[in-house]
Amino acid sequence: MDLFSSFEKLGLRNRSVMAPLTRYHSSRLGNPTSELADYYIRRAKANVGLIIIESCAINSEDAMGYLHGMQFHSKSHVNCWKPIVEKIHDAGAKVWIQLFHAGRLTVPEITGGSVFSASAKKAGDHQSFWRPKITDQVVNFQTNTPYTLPQEISKESIKIVIEQFATAVLLAEEAGFDGVEIHGAHGYLIHTFMTKRVNCRSDEYAESDKFVSELIGECRKVMNRSTVLSFRCSIHMVDNPLMRYSKDDMDFEFLVRTLEQKGVDVFHCSQIDSKRPLFGSNKTLHKIVRELTDLPIVVCGGIKSLAEANSLISEDINSIIAFGRNFIPNPGLIDMFKNNRESEIVSFDYEKHINTIY
Ligand SMILES: Cc1cc2nc3c(=O)[nH]c(=O)nc-3n(C[C@H](O)[C@H](O)[C@H](O)COP(=O)(O)O)c2cc1C
Repeated sequence: MDLFSSFEKLGLRNRSVMAPLTRYHSSRLGNPTSELADYYIRRAKANVGLIIIESCAINSEDAMGYLHGMQFHSKSHVNCWKPIVEKIHDAGAKVWIQLFHAGRLTVPEITGGSVFSASAKKAGDHQSFWRPKITDQVVNFQTNTPYTLPQEISKESIKIVIEQFATAVLLAEEAGFDGVEIHGAHGYLIHTFMTKRVNCRSDEYAESDKFVSELIGECRKVMNRSTVLSFRCSIHMVDNPLMRYSKDDMDFEFLVRTLEQKGVDVFHCSQIDSKRPLFGSNKTLHKIVRELTDLPIVVCGGIKSLAEANSLISEDINSIIAFGRNFIPNPGLIDMFKNNRESEIVSFDYEKHINTIY
């Protein structure tokens, strides 16, 4: 059993996954440019088992995290994706779409006004290439404007957001996607509800599982049983990569059990380095999730070589392996693993590679 063994449960020709990677190369309406469509098809032709399309906003306003970010909420998006999905299928790969709401990790210049979060708490101060510092303030890399105090999302808006996720799921099926991944990781809206560090509400949504379990329940209700429903989870956040695994912050065990009951088919475990234990634990995220469920797991984060991927699969035969950054400059990443050409893999370099679509 290795990276090239098929994974029948999800209909995959092998166990390699292209992780969702936001490229902010979309049209004004949030559709992929033809260049970006070709980028995905190229990876399907080069033997990847599954492509998870980058995060797509479920509306054109408060959900938007990026200028030129992908969106998915209308018939125009379905019509644009349908032929791309067909070509990915023709090349033998499966394809899921990732749906997200940016929550507080965006700025009014991108959403057109509103910035929502579980509670009115400002995002952390962590600096990164997405979040440079200008005169002592962390700013958005596209607008150079600082992150503002978000608004606590109202119960009415929660209802609307859940309906928008469910609508996007139906549209994804219409476009022919094999699965939908709900982005519950990295500090975006869903994640802010799951942790007491951000969720300080005084209503019933103070319960860390309420928003996410209603959202998953609604999505599952409208979906075909055969469409895969994946949930991406992490402990770390874009604005705070040093989050600890702690029951005081997040009852992760309870969440995984609740979400499985609500109809999640796959857990996608995102770590910065999936080989290292989480802060505050002696286990990796995928090991923690494995102790809680028998469902398939996508393992992602810092996996660079075929040997690392194969070792993870041999430890857990119900897992598949996602590669992120190295897919950006290497369209043929999986073929390179397969054909013993690993030495030719170009390591991702932010400055050099981020703005080019290879
Ligand atoms: C440029 C870039 C864009 C990303 N976009 C997304 C995204 O849209 N959705 C998501 O869940 N994670 C996103 N991530 C995180 C990756 O999916 C992945 O978890 C991370 O790069 C770690 O895996 P790696 O070490 O193999 O790169 C992004 C990461 C990078 C570097």
